[in-house]
Amino acid sequence: MPDWDAAYRNAAEPLFGGEPSDFVREVVTRPDFRANSALCLADGDGRNGRWLAEQGLAVTAIDLSPVATEQALSKDKAAGVSVQRLTGDLADWKFSLKDSWDAVFLIFLQCESRVRNCIATEACRHLNPGGWFVGEGFSVDRAEDDLLGPKHSDLLYDTADLEKACSGLQILEAGTTLVELHEGVRHQGRAAIARFLAKR
Ligand SMILES: C[S@@+](CC[C@H](N)C(=O)[O-])C[C@H]1O[C@@H](n2cnc3c(N)ncnc32)[C@H](O)[C@@H]1O
Repeated sequence: MPDWDAAYRNAAEPLFGGEPSDFVREVVTRPDFRANSALCLADGDGRNGRWLAEQGLAVTAIDLSPVATEQALSKDKAAGVSVQRLTGDLADWKFSLKDSWDAVFLIFLQCESRVRNCIATEACRHLNPGGWFVGEGFSVDRAEDDLLGPKHSDLLYDTADLEKACSGLQILEAGTTLVELHEGVRHQGRAAIARFLAKR
């Protein structure tokens, strides 16, 4: 597994840029998207959570890396928004019974599929009725060689797994698309991206 603290600490520029992912922006600007609160799983240095807070959502974000979380908090402050940022491992994360959100964002969480799918299921249990689940990551469906993303297949996203993990939700989108990513220093180039959108 990558040493995320070292990666964020040593980055001369934001690893994944300062803008939200295109998919996050696309979902939130849908005419039928309504949410007052959001949970961002593995929010890193905070580009997605911060943008959601700027859109007026009350955001809770969790990431493994204390270094990324510190950087995120300082960028939130500079942007004039407040995000509840928690540090911890999603492999053994326990939500409180009263936790609930209108939207859950699982964007480029890079970890074993078992952890990713378990936390997706767990987060779905804390979605309010009508709530949205938004997932995005490098896809197992690689139509071309030499694409961006981790080489280890267990780190890659399979939307069929997310469908199972989020069973009971209405699937609105699940598939892989080839895109040119231009996000920070790490996400530059052609990539097969799995995108998943479901609604409770
Ligand atoms: C590729 S970065 C993406 C960060 C952010 N979602 C974004 O799109 O800018 C992957 C993030 O997953 C976090 N991460 C990896 N494994 C994790 C785990 N088990 N629990 C919580 N966060 C984890 C890392 O710390 C890192 O910030």
